[in-house]
Amino acid sequence: MISGRNPRVRNPRSAAIPERWLTGLSPPVQPPSFFSVRRACHKIADMTAPGTLFRPFLRLVRITILGKEFEVPENNPLLRCFQYLPPEQVSYGRFCWNEDCQYCRVTFDLGEATPTRAAISCKLMVQNGMRINEVTAEIKYCLRTLEIGKAD
Ligand code: FES
Repeated sequence: MISGRNPRVRNPRSAAIPERWLTGLSPPVQPPSFFSVRRACHKIADMTAPGTLFRPFLRLVRITILGKEFEVPENNPLLRCFQYLPPEQVSYGRFCWNEDCQYCRVTFDLGEATPTRAAISCKLMVQNGMRINEVTAEIKYCLRTLEIGKAD
């Protein structure tokens, strides 16, 4: 058929309107039950909870950022751990999270008498006792509310 009309529906507008709307006989609207509201709230919370940002973890590990100690989730990249501390600021940082921008570069060691290494924190897995000695200006800006590196 060439024309775009459905031959079974004479008036497409009237077919879209349920009959009970026209007669005024629609049943009274039931308020949502407590359980349906709670289920909906959980769905919304699941979509927005910051927990989904992180890889599964059972405990927090202790790291030092520019001389100040913090506890962050184990089994996560260091940049994600930075995000754990002030979630909003790091989320708005100019990070690619993909090894391209290099804004997340840090130097770190794993304690006394261990070599200092440079790495990009979006790919570096956090370890207990890690000491971050240098960070980029972008990270420092994102972590500004933690008041790290005040001695610099
Ligand atoms: S966030 Fe861009 S290289 Fe790590």
